[in-house]
Amino acid sequence: MRLFIGTSVLTILSLTLLFFNPFFQTNGIYDDEQQGLNEQIVIKFSHVVAENTPKGLAAQKFAELASQKTNGKVKVDVFPNAVLYSDEEEMDALMQGDVQMIAPTYSNLTDFMPEWQVLDLPFIFRNHDDVERVFTGPVGNHLLKLLEEKNIKGMAFWSNGFKQMISNEKSLVHLEDFQGQTFRIMPSPVIEEQFQLFGGHPIPVPFPEVYQELETHRVDGLENTISNIFSKRFYQVQHYLTLSNHGYLGYAVLMNKPFWDQLPRPIQRQLSEAMEETTVWILKQSKHMNEQQFEWLKKQSQLEITILPEKEKQKWMEQMKPVYDRYRQRFGNQLLQEIHPPQ
Ligand code: LMR
Repeated sequence: MRLFIGTSVLTILSLTLLFFNPFFQTNGIYDDEQQGLNEQIVIKFSHVVAENTPKGLAAQKFAELASQKTNGKVKVDVFPNAVLYSDEEEMDALMQGDVQMIAPTYSNLTDFMPEWQVLDLPFIFRNHDDVERVFTGPVGNHLLKLLEEKNIKGMAFWSNGFKQMISNEKSLVHLEDFQGQTFRIMPSPVIEEQFQLFGGHPIPVPFPEVYQELETHRVDGLENTISNIFSKRFYQVQHYLTLSNHGYLGYAVLMNKPFWDQLPRPIQRQLSEAMEETTVWILKQSKHMNEQQFEWLKKQSQLEITILPEKEKQKWMEQMKPVYDRYRQRFGNQLLQEIHPPQ
């Protein structure tokens, strides 16, 4: 009995000592390498494309630069391929603070931010210089600022590339070629109207489901960049590609605003610098990737490729005029003139 009491007292004493020892209070095991970790700021960055794409690479680059510039105080964890959220879910996740950063295609936001429809207008970007000027200049800044009313911090516009047409049914060159075909679209009023004006049937499909929809012939074709066609292997389940460059697919890089607002000023400055550098880098990189992957598709895939002849391009543009008229009626001419200043 005396032995039992003695052992119990010893056990209680040891447990009390253990409990009040600060090293064991939080993590159980003290590890001096973890000192300072409490101060680390973790940013979860979710996106829907593969890692070897313009957005995937830009997200990685931003993560590296953010860590370098803040001396490791900020850690950006990138979640690609919709492993956390699909394109339908990511905006809610950002607003609720389940992730701190996303980079949806701006097309996906045009219902929510109607003035942004200007970026989806067919043939609005004539070349890469237009893209760079709009994304990094006053028009881009103005569009990003509008997000503040929605309690979102707009960090930048990132580039992917010009959109091309692909189909399983028919080469899409003449306007009649679109008649009766079903096209997967991103949920964007302008893109929907574009395909309707072509005589096709547009249906919105989340990006992670596109391959299967093409494979099972629930949709006949779609518009997308070479990089997405390549990295998601859409070329395996499609026959025809038209190099049309009829629109541009880019991204709005967004951060949860309450999260951004509570970051210390120097960290905000360092993250903004990291974002600027990434944006300049991806503008070059994305162009290069799309060009290289186009060469690969020409040589290695079964796609029949047609370059949209100038004559047909003029007809496409003519057919698209009502989309411009509707935009002008609603938002006026100012942004259009800033994008293409009168000569
Ligand atoms: C798409 O849905 O086609 C794109 O938004 C995918 C992406 O993020 O590039």
